[in-house]
Amino acid sequence: MKKVSILGTGSYIPKRVLTNNDLQNFIETNDEWITTRTGIKERHIVENENTSDLAYHAALRAIEAAKINKDEIDMVIVATFSGDNAFPAVANVLQSRLGLREVMAFDINAACSGFVYALNVAEKALRNSKMNKALVIGAEVISKYVDWEDRNTCVLFGDGAGAVILGEGLGDIIDNNCYSRGDVNRYLHGSGTPLKSPENNVGNTVGNIEMNGREVFKFATRAVPSSVNIILEENNLTVDDISLFVFHQANLRIIEKATKDLNIPMEKLFVNIEKYGNTSAASVAIALDEAVRSGRVKRGDKIISVAFGAGFTWGAILIEY
Ligand code: ACO
Repeated sequence: MKKVSILGTGSYIPKRVLTNNDLQNFIETNDEWITTRTGIKERHIVENENTSDLAYHAALRAIEAAKINKDEIDMVIVATFSGDNAFPAVANVLQSRLGLREVMAFDINAACSGFVYALNVAEKALRNSKMNKALVIGAEVISKYVDWEDRNTCVLFGDGAGAVILGEGLGDIIDNNCYSRGDVNRYLHGSGTPLKSPENNVGNTVGNIEMNGREVFKFATRAVPSSVNIILEENNLTVDDISLFVFHQANLRIIEKATKDLNIPMEKLFVNIEKYGNTSAASVAIALDEAVRSGRVKRGDKIISVAFGAGFTWGAILIEY
């Protein structure tokens, strides 16, 4: 069977930093509250860039790391809920801007689980077709959706992008799973453009993120151990066989609770939430790139990544790097 390996990774973070102390200038909050509840110290926010700009730079870095020619890329998937436009997709913008051939390019939206969903889709597409290489990106400009007067949500999020090139190589995507539960979507919601009709042609604003933090916390701390246990059991592996766990960086307390429940030693955990906050679909992609570039992951290592997000959606992926 064709192997689907991670050939290269890249990420791009916008320059402007917004620290917890900066947030105190416009909402009633403080560094101590944010740090103890979430582990976040700062996040990066765009100034003039949009989602496709962040995705573009992350993609260039992944292409460079993979040492491939752009012409070898057969498909582009961008995971995002914050694309530049309703359409065209960010992936279409990139296909042209990166100078790729006229390849299949589309976005998917599974909120914070988007990148893990996209890897799942790309892996199956490459394994079962003539296509050989895929560019898979998680990219978000969440700052445009955030209500900057709502301290319950605005402190949690940041902007960024991460990318991988998948193709035949030394490693493999061994297994993955993806789930969703739409019946509880009221607990984490970003309303879009309101429905309009000729009779009622009003309202054209992008809605804000609304969240029931406690319900999200309960869901996430169940979803992460459950999807990790399923992937371990189905592959006859234990935590000891895994070199690194790269979880969605939503909240340090969620990561710590899941890690404790799964008996994962802290040294097997990759955490960078303190620098970026929750970058939704970009979070696992950025973390993966930093894990690779900092030498935390070596060829042959097994990695498990788990994402969870609005939908609710969640899923895990087992990678031999
Ligand atoms: N600064 C100061 N005070 C705040 C802030 C803030 N930024 N935000 C809320 N508060 C206040 C609330 O108004 C409330 O005050 P009140 O009691 O007077 O009404 C109080 O803090 C709530 O405190 P806690 O109950 O201790 O808050 P909790 O421990 O539940 O923490 C949090 C809130 C961090 C949101 C938690 O519920 C959580 O981690 N939820 C998970 C949500 C998450 O991580 N979402 C990420 C995005 S979703 C995703 O990626 C899937």
